[in-house]
Amino acid sequence: MNRPDFTRLAPLLFSLGLAACLGPASPAAEPPSTSALPAPSSALPTPLYEFRPGTPDGLGKWFLGREIAHYMSHQGAMWLERPEREDEEQPTKLLDALKLQPGNVIADVGAGSGFLSWRMAKRVGTHGLVYANDIQPEMLAILRTNVTAHGVTNVVTILGTTTDPKLPTNAVDLAIFVDVYHECDHPYEIIRGVAQSLKPGGRLVFVEYRGEEQWIPIKPLHKMTEAQVRKEMALQPLEWVETLHLLPRQHVIIFRRKD
Ligand SMILES: C[S@@+](CC[C@H](N)C(=O)[O-])C[C@H]1O[C@@H](n2cnc3c(N)ncnc32)[C@H](O)[C@@H]1O
Repeated sequence: MNRPDFTRLAPLLFSLGLAACLGPASPAAEPPSTSALPAPSSALPTPLYEFRPGTPDGLGKWFLGREIAHYMSHQGAMWLERPEREDEEQPTKLLDALKLQPGNVIADVGAGSGFLSWRMAKRVGTHGLVYANDIQPEMLAILRTNVTAHGVTNVVTILGTTTDPKLPTNAVDLAIFVDVYHECDHPYEIIRGVAQSLKPGGRLVFVEYRGEEQWIPIKPLHKMTEAQVRKEMALQPLEWVETLHLLPRQHVIIFRRKD
């Protein structure tokens, strides 16, 4: 089953000036924005990005040999909540493997409709917190409705930009991108910002459809190989920890902030 093509309207919608930060789902304090990003790697390619004609699903913008996908419009939010997703992605198995602890601070980057946000919020409990970040205010509005419907009060929404996740610095135990990183249009900058938000030793987790396996029914640009993710993270102040192969269609690629 291929993901419906909700992506074509997304750049237009975003360009309509949707840059204000939404309020929190719970009445928690607004987090400070990032500052003092880590020194850039000396191995950065020049130019960082290449532009050339690409595929219909892509931006015609390339990073380290990978074409970046269009991001998914909020008009596709229902697809994120499809009932069969439980079987296809097995979020319970994913979250068990991540061993979230009560009191943890989580950043759900590209949180979409909040499919993972409220589940993680329940695991970290009221002494913990989930920052639910997205670049589309409409997604965050849907997310707040879903979070409230699940009786969760420890989710704070953050409207980021494509170059700055606007997460607090040195504050996050675990940042997670679920089906998001392949569509970040400034992948280098967004990961720098997320790395800055991690506490020393904090983890950064990518859950992506496996690009190595052709049978997985998602468009190629919406999958990533482990090798590509690791190549891109080698430019960041991160070290690879492990890759988990426990989900039917996705791999779980885990890094830790280097200090
Ligand atoms: C396919 S959806 C996945 C949503 C959610 N993680 C889930 O698993 O249900 C991708 C989401 O990433 C968001 N996104 C795309 N680029 C982003 C960026 N640079 N920073 C934050 N969110 C981004 C999109 O707006 C969209 O809501």
